[in-house]
Amino acid sequence: MLVGDLPTPALVVDAVALEHNLATMATALPAARLRPHVKAHKCTELARRQLARGHHGFCCATPRELIGLARAGLTDDLLLANESVDPQRLRAMADLDARVTLAVDSEETVHAAARAGLREVLVDVDVGLPRCGCPPDEAGRIADAARAAGLEVRGVMGYEGHVVGLADRAQRIEQTEASMAMLLAAHEDVGGDVVSGGGTGTFDINTWATEIQAGSYALMDTAYAELGLPFRRAVHVVATVVSVSGNRAIADCGLKALGMDHGNPAIDGAAVWFCSDEHITFSRDGTPEGPVNVGDRVLVWPAHVDPTVAYHERMHLSTGASPDAEVIDTWPIDLRSW
Ligand SMILES: Cc1ncc(COP(=O)(O)O)c(C=O)c1O
Repeated sequence: MLVGDLPTPALVVDAVALEHNLATMATALPAARLRPHVKAHKCTELARRQLARGHHGFCCATPRELIGLARAGLTDDLLLANESVDPQRLRAMADLDARVTLAVDSEETVHAAARAGLREVLVDVDVGLPRCGCPPDEAGRIADAARAAGLEVRGVMGYEGHVVGLADRAQRIEQTEASMAMLLAAHEDVGGDVVSGGGTGTFDINTWATEIQAGSYALMDTAYAELGLPFRRAVHVVATVVSVSGNRAIADCGLKALGMDHGNPAIDGAAVWFCSDEHITFSRDGTPEGPVNVGDRVLVWPAHVDPTVAYHERMHLSTGASPDAEVIDTWPIDLRSW
């Protein structure tokens, strides 16, 4: 089957670009230096490819991701890099035949973890992204509370999410260093041998963390593609042109098939005007093949990979980024939901 024969919108991954990305990262951050974040692809089959490249530990954003990986046999070292106080989900994770580590940033999250029977935690530290994480100077107290509750404290995590997408590399370097200084100060008080942080935009900058939690590098998106990283755009949504009018073309791929929080997606050569629920409206000429007509297929490049993938039930692997490429495999996006 060809990519152009798929019912649209269809999430397609250029297998050549994917392999390039996995290989490039495994060379830069071999084995345990990378803890791939599965939130960016939510796909056990893709996680298996990362395992085959030598990365045995995984980072998860949701209990569903972690439980799914464990049930698929990827049990070596699973980190829920998020807080949870849900007793049922915490117990489900504690009952897995897998090494599970949980992020904690308060006494409440510590006690919820201990009550559920979880054994290992990382203290999550606020390193500048206004999300989860305790202030650096409270990390020691949280670690003490965790140890008092019978938990093993493996170390700290702190995600410099406010830095990873900065366009200017010098700024990324400067602000990563500042964030990691906070994390290392917290680590002094917490102890343990894990300092977990980093993302795709800082994978070769963050030399302070013992492990990097990058996820987007595998599939990439247009936002990260602008940073000049050595990873290629691998994921796109194939859409069918369903209407044309003058210099306006409309294809069947709207914001229900695309994560839009990082802006409009791209269609090579064309100007994307806007997306609505089920449609993308773009300039009709300008694509590399010239003006598009009703029935043509176009490749839509998402601006943000994680939410884009989460909209789709499966990803099709192709021999290249073209409607004429062959579909060589289809992987379920089986780690969706919470
Ligand atoms: C806790 C955490 N670590 C790491 C990442 C890295 O992701 P990316 O590869 O997209 O930079 C994310 C992404 O949002 C995250 O939430």
